[in-house]
Amino acid sequence: MILEIVQYPDARLATPCEPVADVAAVVGLISEMFETMYAAPGRGLAAPQVGVLARVFVMDAGWKSGTKTPRVCINPEIVTVSKETVTGPEGCLSAPGIEVQLTRPARITLDYTDQMGVRQREDLTGFDAICAQHELDHLDGTMHFDRLDAQTRAGLIQDYEATL
Ligand code: NI
Repeated sequence: MILEIVQYPDARLATPCEPVADVAAVVGLISEMFETMYAAPGRGLAAPQVGVLARVFVMDAGWKSGTKTPRVCINPEIVTVSKETVTGPEGCLSAPGIEVQLTRPARITLDYTDQMGVRQREDLTGFDAICAQHELDHLDGTMHFDRLDAQTRAGLIQDYEATL
């Protein structure tokens, strides 16, 4: 089932999410999140974006360029980040039409529990790293534009609200 995607400025997008205690309880949600993400179409989707305040996101940074790499990240934690950064455009399914130029660490080491309940540790680079950081931000109630300076952020939000 395709779920409705919560749109900014919904308060659920500004609320830190609770850890997932029982992986089995979110298996159905995960499958609907993938369906919703691919249909949107998007490359990442976090649970609060479908109204569930739980620490889980799905991502597939490569599918639009022909390489499917679906990942389920439950209770994710960034363990290390590189000093090297990259700057690039980010969009968000919860704020259509806004593109934000953000600078983030180029590489991260991410710990997470997968859909089988197994704890994983993975080094992510390229768009995988950026996508995971963007989605993890959602679990902390942070939108991409929250990482901008106040003036740039206000300008973007003003433009966005004019389209609502
Ligand atoms: Ni987003």
